[in-house]
Amino acid sequence: MAEKRMRTIGVLTSGGDAPGMNAAIRAVTRTALGKGLQVRGIRRGYQGLLEEDIIDLNARDVSDTLQKGGTFLQTARCQEMRTEEGQQRAAAICKKYGIDGLVVIGGDGSFNGAMRLAEYGVNVIGIPGTIDLDITCTDYTIGFDTAVNTAMEAIDKIRDTSTSHSRCSIIEVMGREAGFLALWCGIACGAERVLVPEEKDSIDEAEIVQDMKACRERGKKNYIIINAEGVGGSLELAKRLQEESGIETRATIIGHMQRGGSPSCRDRMMASMMGSMAVDLLISGASNRVVCYKAGQFVDYDIKEALQMKKGLPKDQIRVAKELAL
Ligand code: F6P
Repeated sequence: MAEKRMRTIGVLTSGGDAPGMNAAIRAVTRTALGKGLQVRGIRRGYQGLLEEDIIDLNARDVSDTLQKGGTFLQTARCQEMRTEEGQQRAAAICKKYGIDGLVVIGGDGSFNGAMRLAEYGVNVIGIPGTIDLDITCTDYTIGFDTAVNTAMEAIDKIRDTSTSHSRCSIIEVMGREAGFLALWCGIACGAERVLVPEEKDSIDEAEIVQDMKACRERGKKNYIIINAEGVGGSLELAKRLQEESGIETRATIIGHMQRGGSPSCRDRMMASMMGSMAVDLLISGASNRVVCYKAGQFVDYDIKEALQMKKGLPKDQIRVAKELAL
């Protein structure tokens, strides 16, 4: 059976925003327009789709967006899209607006919704966008590079004052479910400890206290602990460690500043490549695929298969983080 020709595509951003999402929207829009398609921007993710908050996008609408953080289409976490009724309604709205193909920029949760839309006949392509790097099928997610650099710069600054005062500093970085940001910051900032949600149950505070004291005896002027949001409790942990070790300890939660800011060159570049590829996939008749970057190549996977892949934190990175904390 001949594939129906693609005429109009939609694009939305969903879940937590990430620097570089604008670059991806721009790439989707301009690639599609350049190939004779119409483009509709859906505001506020699936929530906006369900509320029919849909605008036409032309080449000028995406001017001057590439370098800006956030997502000009805005985003949302949409509970209704988790229900079958919501998914069916979303697919019907796509049809009503003539949206033959939809590009969804977001994380695993957003891809779940995309997969459902594909089952109801909307051609969908996912682009991985999250600062958490926790999408199994890809080595790269839009926003991680900017976020990890933002966190790194903040940690370097905290380290300066921590050294001046011979303190221990606990710095909480984002990552509710995954410790990639924490682990990269730990290695890049030379932290003594990295606490990640994946190892939450094996955190031994008494052992950390011993190590804090031992490091002090070896002449270390500070003690940096990177704590992931998924472990949390940084303020209370600081109090307990100070009490037990006798070493002054402060906690800083970097928070949402990690999600904002102008995207790095890498995020702009990768988002542009992925946005372009997503449109080409739609034009080729593909659906229910996610664009990925794997072993140095841009590839695409079936969304269902992608969601079933399992990835933990790289063991070699965990080992190196520990080895370098001598
Ligand atoms: O987008 C990912 C993320 O930033 C996580 O690291 C964090 O746990 C979560 O989103 C925070 O979400 P919200 O902005 O809804 O508080």
